[in-house]
Amino acid sequence: MSDRFNTAAGWALFAGIVALGAGIVSSKLTHQERPEQMGYEIAGVEAEGGEGGASGPSLNTLLASADVAKGEKVFAKCTACHTINQGGPNGIGPNLYATVGEGIAQGKGGFAFSEALKKVGGSWTFEALDHWLASPRTFANGTKMSFAGLSNPEDRANVIAYLNAQGSNLPLPAADAAPEAESANAAAPAEGANVAEAGNAAAPAEGQTTNQVATAN
Ligand code: HEC
Repeated sequence: MSDRFNTAAGWALFAGIVALGAGIVSSKLTHQERPEQMGYEIAGVEAEGGEGGASGPSLNTLLASADVAKGEKVFAKCTACHTINQGGPNGIGPNLYATVGEGIAQGKGGFAFSEALKKVGGSWTFEALDHWLASPRTFANGTKMSFAGLSNPEDRANVIAYLNAQGSNLPLPAADAAPEAESANAAAPAEGANVAEAGNAAAPAEGQTTNQVATAN
């Protein structure tokens, strides 16, 4: 009798151990799943950051083909806080007439600029405006302009061209040379160097070509 009881108790214990083991295994499986999901989320965030950093057309190129009418539409996002007509009143933000080229955080009928923006210094170049409008907080940490920023570089270029057309009218920069042309220029000296090296080892006839290349450079 007690033998049988011991056997039964033994099996019960064994079953318990198996159940415990299964529990551990399954909890390990669930734990494995979790980091995988989190991994995907993080990867997504990183991918977005990467896209943002990807090099599109330069600001100069975008400004050269900027559309003032489209910029005026983008400016609809700004009108809650800014007027832009000449002599327009300051609101939550300063009047922006003729701001392009002006000193940063200066004038504007005594508008109370934040210390954060005042200490940036310099003037509103196209580039400064591009950085400012991409992320006011990054440009001047602590700024009073509670605006997230315009993530689209074309929107920024268009609205900068619109701002410029309101009282500033500075000449827009020319488009940068196409990237292919730049890389061709960079490749040329390298090729010349190769020819020179080959020329040293090669026959005099090729040496002449080397001289020609050198004079061309
Ligand atoms: C929520 C209100 C708000 C919105 C929306 C807003 N701004 Fe501003 N803006 C401000 C404030 C406030 C300041 C002053 C910032 C400071 O002193 O730190 C400012 C400052 C500026 C300045 C600097 C002016 C100077 O003379 O130095 C520019 C340029 C500007 N804003 C452009 C824009 C443009 C373009 C948009 C739309 C894409 C925009 N802002 C949207 C509130 C706003």
